[in-house]
Amino acid sequence: MTLRIENVATAVTMSGVGDGPIGADALGEVRDAVIACQGDRIAGVWKRADAPPARPGDEVIDARGAVAIPGLIDPHTHAVFAGHRARQFDPRARGMSYLDVARAGEGMTRTLAPTRAASAEELFALARTRLLRMLSFGVTTVEIKSGYGLDTAQELKLLAVADRLGRETPLTVVPTFMGAHVVPPEFDGRADDYVALVCDEMLPAVARQGVARFCDVFCEAGFFTPEQSRKILVAGREHGLSPKVHADEFTDLGGARLAAEVSATSADHLLHTGPYGVRALAASGTVAVLLPATAFFLGERYAPARALLDAGVPVALATDLNPGSCPTENPHLVLTAACTNMGMTVAEALAGMTVRAARALGLSDRGRLAPGSRADVALLAVPEIAYLPYHFGWNFVTAVIAGGRVALRRDPDAVGLTGEDA
Ligand code: NIG
Ligand code: FE
Repeated sequence: MTLRIENVATAVTMSGVGDGPIGADALGEVRDAVIACQGDRIAGVWKRADAPPARPGDEVIDARGAVAIPGLIDPHTHAVFAGHRARQFDPRARGMSYLDVARAGEGMTRTLAPTRAASAEELFALARTRLLRMLSFGVTTVEIKSGYGLDTAQELKLLAVADRLGRETPLTVVPTFMGAHVVPPEFDGRADDYVALVCDEMLPAVARQGVARFCDVFCEAGFFTPEQSRKILVAGREHGLSPKVHADEFTDLGGARLAAEVSATSADHLLHTGPYGVRALAASGTVAVLLPATAFFLGERYAPARALLDAGVPVALATDLNPGSCPTENPHLVLTAACTNMGMTVAEALAGMTVRAARALGLSDRGRLAPGSRADVALLAVPEIAYLPYHFGWNFVTAVIAGGRVALRRDPDAVGLTGEDA
């Protein structure tokens, strides 16, 4: 089946993004374009004058002058959980930090009880709503970490929910095992025993069921030390799970260097990563996944995006959606914060949620509008691509195609631009 998207003012193909620095030509813009999808793949992107004619039976979408981008990829979320932590908000506004809140017993462990008590069905319904919100912003691929179950059966429950979300929503879901998110209360003062449980029981069980691609660890003061993190990541790799690291989020504990040492697919957060960590990542080829909405929400410093990019580290961006440090599904805010607070260009930011984000998930078949790429496309009622991060706080998506199928359409007159904006 062929799906044709016609009347695209600009197709932002990302064809100019290679392994090196991202220049102005990286966006690979095609003006007045037609995009064709065959099955779940992109068949071609042409200027209208060069496009093959539509054939009878083709499904045609009139983009009405929209800008088309590759479906966005969110390579770091904790989307499966129950409950919320809004009551932490006022204390934090009055000056308590994320770590202060955690030490006061109001952190992640507050999400543990409701998540453990929830059935797989309930968690599925909650997370499905979050994923459909993401889809409405043009996200078509999402990584989801476990980490609010923290015993073998509970972690498997969360990973099974992530797997089901991939089968029963239009989004592609990449599941990550994160048993080492926080030491659960029943292991208080016995962190090493919990690490042993993760390595000797949880990882083998997760591997047996084949329900995760990656193994992640929160390497942070008061959570898991670099030594404990290394143990878990090495054990994960032995079970076929590639390492990811929550690194240097609140303290420079050497998380980035650890990520480089174990050849992690990605090192995430990096707010406090110094020059040694930047150099180590540049040498290892590990992707830096930056989460500026988390820094924004927590009032923390931002990751050294410029230093990372200038050192040649591939930089991806993600929401970090979770109930504690970043309760948002909105990737457009992430793009805005990347440009305004981390000095990234529009092209670098967009590459961070397309081509680079795909790499952070070990995927090479998406993130571009190119023949053979997965047919994931978002249409935006904006006059040019820079308008997306520029006009922040509103959703300009008018349609989302996921795997060659129309997953969402919104009335362009309701979301689009009028008058002086257009
Ligand atoms: O990425 N840092 C660890 N995990 C999340 C926070 C999770 C939570 O607070 O519930 C993060 O910031
Ligand atoms: Fe996280």
